[in-house]
Amino acid sequence: MISRNTIDTVFEVARVEEVIGDFVQLKRAGSNLKGLSPFSDEKSPSFMVSPTKQIWKDFSSGKGGNVVTFLMEHEHFSYPEAIRYLAKKYNIEIEETEQTSEEKEQASEKESMYLVSEFAKNYFHKTLLNSEEGKAIGLSYFKERGFTNATIEKFGLGYSPDSWTALTDEALKNGYSLEFLEKTGLTIVKQDKKFDRFKGRVMFPIQSMSGRVLGFGGRILTNDKKAAKYLNSPESEIYHKSKILYGLYQAKQAIAKNDNCYLVEGYTDVIQFNQSGVENVVASSGTALTADQIRLISRLTKNITVLFDGDAAGLRASIRGVDLILEEGMNVKVCTFPNGEDPDSFAKKTSFEELTLYLEEHAKDFIQFKASLLNEDAQNDPIKKAELIRDMVTSISKIPDRIKREVYVQETSKIMEISEDVLANTLAQILRKEQYDATKKAFEENQKIDAVKREEIQLKKIDFLSVIEENTLKILLNHGDKVLTFEERVFFKNEDGDVETKVFKKDYKVYEKIYLSLQEDELEFSNEVFRAVYNHIMFYLQNRGVLDKEKFIAETPQELITIISDLYLSDDRYRLDNWESKNIYPKAKDQESVILQNVNETILNFRVHLIYKLIGDLMNQLKEKDSQSDNSDLLSEVMHYGELRKLLFSFLGNVTPLNHYSQYN
Ligand code: CTP
Ligand code: MN
Repeated sequence: MISRNTIDTVFEVARVEEVIGDFVQLKRAGSNLKGLSPFSDEKSPSFMVSPTKQIWKDFSSGKGGNVVTFLMEHEHFSYPEAIRYLAKKYNIEIEETEQTSEEKEQASEKESMYLVSEFAKNYFHKTLLNSEEGKAIGLSYFKERGFTNATIEKFGLGYSPDSWTALTDEALKNGYSLEFLEKTGLTIVKQDKKFDRFKGRVMFPIQSMSGRVLGFGGRILTNDKKAAKYLNSPESEIYHKSKILYGLYQAKQAIAKNDNCYLVEGYTDVIQFNQSGVENVVASSGTALTADQIRLISRLTKNITVLFDGDAAGLRASIRGVDLILEEGMNVKVCTFPNGEDPDSFAKKTSFEELTLYLEEHAKDFIQFKASLLNEDAQNDPIKKAELIRDMVTSISKIPDRIKREVYVQETSKIMEISEDVLANTLAQILRKEQYDATKKAFEENQKIDAVKREEIQLKKIDFLSVIEENTLKILLNHGDKVLTFEERVFFKNEDGDVETKVFKKDYKVYEKIYLSLQEDELEFSNEVFRAVYNHIMFYLQNRGVLDKEKFIAETPQELITIISDLYLSDDRYRLDNWESKNIYPKAKDQESVILQNVNETILNFRVHLIYKLIGDLMNQLKEKDSQSDNSDLLSEVMHYGELRKLLFSFLGNVTPLNHYSQYN
């Protein structure tokens, strides 16, 4: 187990904005940072990070928390994995306390699969560099392809020996179980026989955006026509081909920095580009591009340049990916290589300067690119030309942004020498059809979920006490340690028996005032989660007196982090959506008088709610009694609370108490 000490250091050193910045492109928005949600495929940013509070909130999925929660949500790390990841990132040495056998067993299945994959990667890599067979066969192959040692290191390339169980034996010897060797596909088990999937191949480890080994591609070295050139890990709990881009881990920083991503087909294309110094490159690994893969890129940049091999056959297949990219709201350029060349072979024979110059000069906008296809195969064929124009307009129809669509219509009109009107009409036609289909689909979906939804709405009946409690927590979290001057009212009965009040002023810290007021009335939070948060922040403030938000978050138990980041950032969301766009910031919200009023109202609302509850209880007691018995005590109690209620309302003054109280009248 990781020691408490290490965990504390990690929380002290790790910066949520830096850690998240490795996965999401963040831009400043007031005191917060914002970006596109990595948990959904949104097009306008609703993901927020607060550097001052060290928390984040994703409004599209509802997820939120601190730096560790992010890694747990995004990378599907366990808590200790997240701590280890951070320790590694920030060069913090991990102090271990002894692990019990029970704890060892508890390591999850996925974790075990990650671990054995990491082991295999290291084994293949060592075998490539150190074993006779590895050097003679694997390493010499890579050298022949022109890969340097640094490149081999960077991509963790390896070699899997040409014997049936080399990896399997070594892994078992090192305490890894056959179960996970099989689940990751590293070992193929058939009855009582087992053998290595990647026997005799050079190995390309496939990593997640954060560098975890998810699977492998293995290339055969013989010219065996019957065997597949590349063999990949099978789909598993940790390897989902459609959600992986080869090279993303090595490319992510360069993609964000260059604000562009080159998309190629193969492992070797990625590696050769890197070696040439062009690092913002990833591969779809020979499969048709998926929306999930595009979304991985869209977190880092809005610009993709698709690189096609010189041959026309591959081109036709992969051009469908272009529409998919447009559909995701991204900008696409297309670049082809001279006949017979692929990105790998081209990069191998050019210098960095030549390569980048070529890419700059030959990357065409997708419209120009499609138009250029015409020149090649259908220049004087009106039917083919018409087909192509329709194809271009179809691509344009995928672009979510209207203005961009308009610009491309103009562009197409010029290039193809056809009137804008005709193009615009065709576009409108396609869009109408799409809209119709989408509406129809939505309607059908809606009918399906209607029943479920209705039930959900029933359950969500708003709990008004929770509203008050939530507000109290927001005040405590934002202003808990501020000193304000409160007016205290003392209630007493004068000689005539009327209730009177006396007012005097006293300074309190906000949390003290709230604590004392609730205690006085023996009020407890009704919502269990809110109660836990209340107890936590009260405990913190009573010990520290001041609210250092960053420290507070660091000391917050993991199970409360999500709710606390919700409470912190839910108002900022409103700010992000509305005020920011109108250039108005709600400064008033933080003024002392406003806070003071807010605290007073909240306490009063609590009391009003309590009194209604007490009156309600008494009324129920009255109902239960039979009409013969003496009810005068109960009745006078009800009267008493009635008076108190009136009094409280008068203090709420021109502020309407939460209007739901009408429900009791
Ligand atoms: N691929 C695959 N299985 C195959 C062939 C290809 O998974 N049987 C994937 C690999 O990710 C490969 C990519 O498709 O990198 C592109 O295929 P190809 O162009 O045939 O391979 P190259 O990357 O050019 O490989 P090499 O240069 O080593 O022949
Ligand atoms: Mn190749």
